[in-house]
Amino acid sequence: DPIEPDLSSCGESTVDTSKACMNVPCCPPKLKDSKIIDFEPPLGCKIRYRPAAHLVDRDYLYKFESAMERMKALPVDDPRNFMQQANIHCAYCNGAYSQVGFPDQKLEVHYSWLFFPFHRMYLYFFERILGKLIGDPDFAMPFWNWDSPCGMTMPQIYLDPYSPLYDENRNLEHQPDVVVNLNDGKSVVKQKKKNDDFYELTKREQRNRNLYVMYQQMVRSSKTASCFHGAVYRAGCVSETDIGCTPEPRGGTLENGAHLAVHKFVGAKNPPYNEDMGNFYSAGRDPLFYAHHGNVDRMWNIWKTLPGKKRRDFDEKDWLNSSFLFYDENANMVRVKVRDCLDSKTLGYDYQSVDIPWLRSKP
Ligand code: C2O
Repeated sequence: DPIEPDLSSCGESTVDTSKACMNVPCCPPKLKDSKIIDFEPPLGCKIRYRPAAHLVDRDYLYKFESAMERMKALPVDDPRNFMQQANIHCAYCNGAYSQVGFPDQKLEVHYSWLFFPFHRMYLYFFERILGKLIGDPDFAMPFWNWDSPCGMTMPQIYLDPYSPLYDENRNLEHQPDVVVNLNDGKSVVKQKKKNDDFYELTKREQRNRNLYVMYQQMVRSSKTASCFHGAVYRAGCVSETDIGCTPEPRGGTLENGAHLAVHKFVGAKNPPYNEDMGNFYSAGRDPLFYAHHGNVDRMWNIWKTLPGKKRRDFDEKDWLNSSFLFYDENANMVRVKVRDCLDSKTLGYDYQSVDIPWLRSKP
C-alpha cells in the first residue's frame, strides 16, 4: 500500500542518538476548517531557475533576505512561519506521524524511496511561501553547489551573522575556506603514507576526491532506481518477514553519502544532538538546509539524464500514490502525491545550468 501520514494522530517526535534521547513537539498547527486540498501542479509555463548560491548577485540576495526575514517574522502559529517550516522536517523524520491505516507504524521519510519526493515537495512549498511573502511568484531559492569545486565550502551568503540566512548552530571550524569532505563530513581527511605517517589532504586533493565521490555515488553505484532512491517502503511494513517489505531502512547512494556528509559537516560539534544540521529534528532550522537540499534535489534531475536503461524512477503504484501533507503559500493544507513531483518542470522550476565536473571524474 502507499504511505500516507495520519494527521489526526500527530504526536511528539522522538530524537534518539546513541547517546541521548528526548521528545519534542513538532506537529503542524491545527487546521482551521479541516479541509485538505489535493495538490494541483501550478498552471502556466514559465520556469523559474534556482541559482547556485555562490553565484547570486546583490539584488537577488536582497530579495532572498527580505523573504526570509518576513518568514521569520510571521506569527509563531502561522504554518508558514520559519520555525513551523523547520518543524515539518522534525515531524516527518522523527516519528511524529503514524501511517494511515497502520496506527503502530511510524512514518519516516529518510532511508527509503520517499527521500527524494518528500524533500522536493518540502522545498517546493518553502519556496512558494518565500515568493508569496515578497509578492514575487517567480522567486526561486538558491542551491548549494557542493558537487562542484567552486561550491565545496559553505556558501558565503549564509555566513553573515546579521543576515536572516545565518544560523549560529553550526560548526565554526568548518567555515570557508575549509573544503567539505563529501565522503563523511569530517573536515580533515588524513591519508596514510607508505611510512605510516598521516598527512592532511590539501584543498585541491580534497576537491578532486569529492569529484570521484560524486561520480561513484551518482554514476557507478546508482544504475537502478533502488540504488539511487533507496529501498522500497510500503505502508504497514515492519521487517523482512513481511513479504516485499524493506528488510532494513536503506537510503540511496547519494542520500547515505554526500547528503549525510554535508549535514555532518555543517552541524555543530555539540553532543549529543549536533544541532542544527547534524540532526534531522533540527536541520530545518538552518537556512542552509534548504540550499543543501536544493542541490540534493538537483541531483535527482541530473540522475535522470544519465545514460542507462534502468536509470529511471520507479513505476510502482505504492510509490506513485504515497503522499505527504504540507501547508501551501496561502496556509491551506495540501496533499501531494509522489506522482505529482516526478518532474521539477511540471512544478515550475529547474536549476541554473552550471558545469558538472564529476561527470568527467571517472576514478
Ligand atoms: Cu530530511 Cu537532509 O534530510
